[in-house]
This record gives sequence, C-alpha cells and structure tokens, in this order.
Amino acid sequence: MTATIDIQRVKESRLAMLDFATLQFGKEFSDHMFVADCIDGVWQEPKIMPFGPLPSSPAQSALHYGQAIFEGMKAFRTADNQIQLFRPIDNFNRLNISAERMAMPPIPESIFMEGLLQLIKLDQAWVPAQEGYSLYIRPVYYATEEALGVRPSSSYRFVILTSPAGKYYADPVKVLVETEYTRASEGGMGYAKAAGNYGGSLHPTKMAKEKGYDQLIWMDAKEHRFAEESGTMNVMFVIDGKLVTPALSSSKLAGITRDSILKLAGSMNIPVEERNISVEELVAAHKAGHLQDAFGVGTAANLSPISLIGYEGKDYHLPPVAERAISNRLGDALNDIKYGNAADTFGWILKVN
Ligand code: COI
Repeated sequence: MTATIDIQRVKESRLAMLDFATLQFGKEFSDHMFVADCIDGVWQEPKIMPFGPLPSSPAQSALHYGQAIFEGMKAFRTADNQIQLFRPIDNFNRLNISAERMAMPPIPESIFMEGLLQLIKLDQAWVPAQEGYSLYIRPVYYATEEALGVRPSSSYRFVILTSPAGKYYADPVKVLVETEYTRASEGGMGYAKAAGNYGGSLHPTKMAKEKGYDQLIWMDAKEHRFAEESGTMNVMFVIDGKLVTPALSSSKLAGITRDSILKLAGSMNIPVEERNISVEELVAAHKAGHLQDAFGVGTAANLSPISLIGYEGKDYHLPPVAERAISNRLGDALNDIKYGNAADTFGWILKVN
C-alpha cells in the first residue's frame, strides 16, 4: 500500500535566512512538515504542508493524560551529494512499540515511510553539507480528542518535522549520577519514547545543571545501584578494554545508536558486555585505573564523550578524549557509514534521492 500525499508547498523558502554558524539544536525548522490524522481508527489522507502551527484544543487529551510519543532520526548528505537516512525502519518499529505501550493505534508503515521520504525529498536542500551536521528528523504522535475522561483518545495526529542540526553537545559531557530521583521502573514506560519520560527528567536535570553538570546518569528504581541511561542518550563504559553497557530492560530506551555501536564493536572484535553495572563498580574501576572511557550514544547526541562522572560529592575524571581508542574508532566507523564514506555492510542506510 502506498499513501497518496497531498503536497502544499511554501511560497518562498526560508532556507536563505538560515545561519549555520549560530545554529542551535532544534531551534530552526525546515520549510515543510508531514501531517496525518487518525480518526476513530481510520487514517485520513496525509498531507505535506508549510511548517507552522496546527490548530489544537486545550481539551486535547495528549495535554491531560500524556498520550504523546516521538522519535529522533537523521538524514545525512554524502560527499557526492546524495541524501541518506540511517536505520529509519528501526525508528518506525520503535514508534509503534511506544504507541502500543500508550494505547495508541499503530502507524501504518506506508504512511510513516512515504511521508518521511517525500518530506525529505522536498526539503533536501535543508540537509546541511557541513562536516558533522545533519538534518534531525522528529516524528511526533499525539492524542487530539477533546475529552477529559481517562481513556484512550479516539483521534490522533502524526507529524514529521525536520530541523538542521550540528552537534547536540559541543563539549565532552559532565554527568551526575542521580541518587534521589529515578527515571523509570521495571514494568513502567521507560522503554517507550514517551514525552512524559522527558518531562519527568527536567527538574532533576535542572538541579544537576545548577551544580555545573550537563546531564544525569539515572540509576535503577529498585535498588538505586545500577546505571540505567543518561537523559538524552544511552551510556557505555570501557572497563579494562571491554565495552560495557547496561542491558536493556523495560525501564530503558532501546537506543538505535546503542544497537549500532554494539554491532560495530562486534564486527571489530571489541569485547562487549551488556549487563548490570553498579555505580560502586564504576567508582572501584576508576580508583584502580581500569575505567578507560565513558560516553553517551543517541541519535541527537551521536557518540558524546563523558568528561567526568559526579557521584556523592566527588567527580571522577575520565581520560582525555584523544586517548580513547575504542570509542574514537567506533564513533568514526559509525559516522563513516552515516555520511557514506564506508560501505554499509549492515543494511542500515536508505538512500533518498
Ligand atoms: C534523540 O536522540 O533523537 C532524542 O530523542 C533525544 C533527545 C534529543 C530528546
């Protein structure tokens, strides 16, 4: 099945007004957006239209009961001026996993993929050519029924926005291990990319920022011992030459960049362990000189080195980024595939033009 998409173009592109030198993550939006509504379980004819406000009611149930989920993905411009998407089908699948958890109807693959491809084709001039830049793509799906009863909405809106972006973190990230608040518990909705998971993180993160940190490392909700993930990315460590990362569970987001890094590490014969990692283990490894690296991985963050980990009043500094052989190799290999400088032996790339 292919979706027929009505396309309404902008009268004049805003691209010429964009200043790449001052670009901030998620602040500039390209000319068009994709919009599809689902009413009483029936998908209406989707459209591509100029980016801008959409009518909404203050009674729409997403605002009251949080049926709102999203994805993060990217389009890259290659050296020979091709535009390519990285693992879009994995974002599609994860969006529907989140939808199921939030009692929202699944999005048909034809609507997601056709909408995505036609939107990126139309706004391909917005995919930056500068090194390290890309077009960030934000699919968002939310409940639109005007209703205050606590039950699934009868109508939903699926929108895809795009936004040219450089680095999410300009510098290595200072993270604080959060010892009071937790992000998600087993059986909760931590694995869903639900707006509420991010809303709940903002107050603890704000407090960490007031202490000079950029982000948190969340711990498990049951024992407050094991590292879960960071606010905008999954976390990975190198301990004694092994790449160690928290095993997935219902409280963690199954990051697509996380999965890509683990597959790349496997292909490079880097030993990988997916398991519980307690913060005491990290501190002990640091004291013994065995904690060689810590970094975050995510679509927006890409591979972001962590410069220090704060825990119970003490900062544990990591080695200089230039000395981090494993993550530098993995980050380069990932970027080479994304930007088309290396063969895509994993089948991750979808070419747009
Ligand atoms: C992403 O990496 O795409 C995310 O969604 C994380 C964050 C920017 C909210």
